[in-house]
Amino acid sequence: MRNIDEHNITEAAIARLGHGAQPRVNEIVTALVKHLHAFVREVKLTEAEWQQGIVFLTDTGHMCSGERQEFILLSDVLGVSMLTVALNQKRAAGATEATVFGPFHVDDAPRCEDGADIARGAPGEPLAGEIEVVDLEGRPIADAEVDIWQADDDGLYDVQRPELGTERRARGVFRTDAKGRVRFRSIVPTAYPIPTDGPVGRLLDAAGASPWRPAHVHFRIRAQGYATLVTHLFREPDPYLDSDAVFGVRSSLIARFEPQPGGGYRLQHRFVLVPESEA
Ligand code: BEZ
Ligand code: FE
Repeated sequence: MRNIDEHNITEAAIARLGHGAQPRVNEIVTALVKHLHAFVREVKLTEAEWQQGIVFLTDTGHMCSGERQEFILLSDVLGVSMLTVALNQKRAAGATEATVFGPFHVDDAPRCEDGADIARGAPGEPLAGEIEVVDLEGRPIADAEVDIWQADDDGLYDVQRPELGTERRARGVFRTDAKGRVRFRSIVPTAYPIPTDGPVGRLLDAAGASPWRPAHVHFRIRAQGYATLVTHLFREPDPYLDSDAVFGVRSSLIARFEPQPGGGYRLQHRFVLVPESEA
């Protein structure tokens, strides 16, 4: 292959790259080349712009650490995370919808007893949560793992506060009781901007896009024999429900946060899981 030019390089690259041992990898790599070349042609990318793109991706990598995943953030703001969720999580009618995972989950959140306060000093108005986990027929799912995490009243996750070190706040992992229930106490979520102090923030700024997410609490629910559910509960009213920076809002995930006579809010929600085989 010689004298490759702008007209035949796509064909040449696809022919070169589609011969590995794994058919799925061949499919993905050749489609990637096809679409990347189309993108470069469409915008008539200059060499200086290509260089800028390389610097951007390098900065994105350098921003990543144990506590920060800038590539997930990039995927989120480009709509790729939510597109992947939407393509892969077409659930049966009645099942709870999934949404983006986000970059702030940690694996070492405290294991909690029923009724525990997960705020552990995080600032915010008190919240009393009552969660139920059931199957498509409404039967309780006992011993499901319910992993909950959220930002505090300043719009920050514990991992965004260097002063906390490895101290965990506003997150906890519970197990449902025989009736499929978990009760927890926490704080009322508020809207917050996704981190803008890195390359993704610069991208949003340059693109004239807002970094704000509507108020939400994250949940990951895992139970034997059921498809894992990664989702949020949103609270209304909220000015960002129709302009979420990461495209994660589903109407069915707007939950009941009821003000309580003595102050604070009560959140009640029933999560419906689908069997693993139907996911
Ligand atoms: C979050 O909700 O924690 C989140 C999701 C996507 C990007 C940034 C934050
Ligand atoms: Fe969040």
